[in-house]
Amino acid sequence: MTRFINTHSHVNMLKTLSPDIAVRNCIENDITIIVPSSSATDIFEVDNFVKNHENTYGYVGVFPEEVKGFTDKTLSDMENIIKNNPKIIGIGEIGLDYYWDKTYIDLQKEVFIKQIEFANEMNLPLNIHSRDAHFDTLEILKKYNKNSKAIMHCFSGSLEFAKECIKEGIYIALGGVVTFKNGKKAKQVAKEIPLEYLLLETDDPYLTPVPFRGKENQPMYVKYVAQEIADIRKTDIDDIAKITTQNTLKIFPQIS
Ligand code: NI
Repeated sequence: MTRFINTHSHVNMLKTLSPDIAVRNCIENDITIIVPSSSATDIFEVDNFVKNHENTYGYVGVFPEEVKGFTDKTLSDMENIIKNNPKIIGIGEIGLDYYWDKTYIDLQKEVFIKQIEFANEMNLPLNIHSRDAHFDTLEILKKYNKNSKAIMHCFSGSLEFAKECIKEGIYIALGGVVTFKNGKKAKQVAKEIPLEYLLLETDDPYLTPVPFRGKENQPMYVKYVAQEIADIRKTDIDDIAKITTQNTLKIFPQIS
């Protein structure tokens, strides 16, 4: 069986399926999961979750819609968690989101930059959320990120933007959107980018891949994402699993 690594799964947030069962399904299918945090309180939940679940790892970070809850204490909380839990292997999800509310863009940028600098200090990779904010996200990364590897989570940009990211050494993580009929941009990215920069994810419980659209997503469905990419590239799902797992282990050598 070929191993998969799902680089972004909120498995702790599943509602219709118990997270314990979702993790067990992944273990049975040789799928390792990385669980992101989204808020200043969620970091503790993710810390506990990965301590208590085999085959899971975590990121700590505050994502754009939750930046109003970010304080200096959040950074010291994150530092404590990282020092006490070797299964916390990155900072995320962090970034910019101009889709819902544009009234606090400056605060989003400030908190994004602080967390990039923190990741640099901790020497940990970044898992990045960018929605309708691609230009600013890349500009900030170019300017502030000194030494952290970076992943564009649930990549939603054009092929041109993917190439710009790759030029900066940034990895491209594709999820369920690549299986959607209207996911043309994601399909094109899946087809054209160098495989050494490709990663897999699900972003469950959101963005459920075909053929389960309309139902709750779960981390095991990363296989449908991989299968779609394999079909698009006219290759085998095992090849996609192998290369994306290798890529992920390069970013996160702590994963056993
Ligand atoms: Ni997410």
